[in-house]
Amino acid sequence: MPFNEELVASLRAALAANPDNPHLHKHLGDILMAGEDLLGAEQEYRLALKLSPQDLGIKLALAEAFLKQEKHSASLVLVEDLLAEPNPSAQAHLLSAHLMARKGDIGRATHHYLKAREIQPGLQDPDLESRIPFFEPPDPPQSQVPELPAPPGIDLSQLSFFQLAAESELERVPAQSFPEEPGFLPLEKPDLGFADVGGMSQVKEEIELKIIHPLKHPELYAAYGKSAGGGILMYGPPGCGKTHLARATAGEVNASFLAVGINDILDMWMGQSERNLHQIFEQARASTPCVLFFDEVDALGASRSDMRQSAGRHLINQFLLELDGIQARNEGVLILAATNAPWHLDPAFRRPGRFDRILFVPPPDQESREAILKLILSGKPTEGIDYTTLAKKSEGLSGADLKALVDRAVEMRLREAIKSGSPAPLRQKDLLQALKQTRSTVQEWLTSARNYALYANQSGFYDDVLHYLKL
Ligand SMILES: Nc1ncnc2c1ncn2[C@@H]1O[C@H](COP(=O)(O)OP(=O)(O)OP(=O)(O)O)[C@@H](O)[C@H]1O
Ligand SMILES: [Mg+2]
Repeated sequence: MPFNEELVASLRAALAANPDNPHLHKHLGDILMAGEDLLGAEQEYRLALKLSPQDLGIKLALAEAFLKQEKHSASLVLVEDLLAEPNPSAQAHLLSAHLMARKGDIGRATHHYLKAREIQPGLQDPDLESRIPFFEPPDPPQSQVPELPAPPGIDLSQLSFFQLAAESELERVPAQSFPEEPGFLPLEKPDLGFADVGGMSQVKEEIELKIIHPLKHPELYAAYGKSAGGGILMYGPPGCGKTHLARATAGEVNASFLAVGINDILDMWMGQSERNLHQIFEQARASTPCVLFFDEVDALGASRSDMRQSAGRHLINQFLLELDGIQARNEGVLILAATNAPWHLDPAFRRPGRFDRILFVPPPDQESREAILKLILSGKPTEGIDYTTLAKKSEGLSGADLKALVDRAVEMRLREAIKSGSPAPLRQKDLLQALKQTRSTVQEWLTSARNYALYANQSGFYDDVLHYLKL
């Protein structure tokens, strides 16, 4: 339906005379929708629905307008309403299938799509099918099925919305969401090394042994029949240096650094997630030596509960496949991952060859805090700082907290410097004062971890946490 300005103008005029006519609002909405004025359409449908709250056609149209604007929850509310009716239409099921597919619930998406096709034989939605991995129609191939006229009771004008939606949806997918070749994540070359990481000696040691040495001396490892592979997973409270250390690891071995957040994988169209993940691994394999760092890796697994079983399962399987390096060898790819929520992690991640080293990264101890403070303050003008005392008094603060503390002290000093007109170095007094105003951001995490460690410590997973908490 081409956008018809004249028609819109005349409908608006008609509406000005009859503002309470739901059909006019609906009609105008349809035309705006066809002209891709989605927000305009939404507004008209809303008005229409207000005037005629039980009209299923309006509800359906509004749900469609929401979907096209990616207002998924709003759309879902209406679709659930529509499906609760005695005989839901094919369109309601189709819309539901679209929403479920975007949510990653492939099972339900398939169910609703099949339902829609049962009600309306011949119905086909290639866009939807492309979002349902491995979708196989139970019928004979659709090309052999003649197009059937819509059964009575189905408003054909609505059908055209769906076809329109399917087409425009394809167009609206941003090109970079479908990476065809490696190289869609920014590749970093960190210029920091282990020397820039205070404390954390145990984690550093493990990284050395498990991934740096094999990289530097592959022949030694080969001689013992030990393949490099496998990754290290770090877990612990926020701000205690997991990301910092991962970046420093790359710098330490002069490798590239690829940081992958869950959004790089998931925040795209469902069904593409596995491919995105594969592309990321491919990018790492093409940029060796490379540290491939998965931040918040639990989200890959946690997505199962949030987004329903099947899609998350596919993604985890893909991840495991890539980790196992069956499809392509991961030589020269060092895999690190971090999480704040190890309890959400899929146990399959922990098998040998995958994340077979799982390390607790605790809040820094006194010695580490001293090292971190020195690092943070190096390069800043200071005078008479007693690092040992500061480290003693900052028990419970994370690296990030210490950074915040120093920032605060610098700010206070700056304010004074502006008043007096002359810059002055940071003093112990400033830092102690800032310390008073700095709260630990690790306590909440430690409280949850304590519960898991006490009550869900399968195979001693949280022994390090128990040890840290002296339990
Ligand atoms: N051991 C450390 N040495 C030096 N700086 C540190 C250290 N730990 C933390 N920091 C500082 O604190 C900041 C926050 O740390 P980082 O982002 O690595 O924490 P994280 O453990 O990854 O936290 P989250 O779990 O919230 O992702 C870093 O940018 C760094 O400046
Ligand atoms: Mg981090």
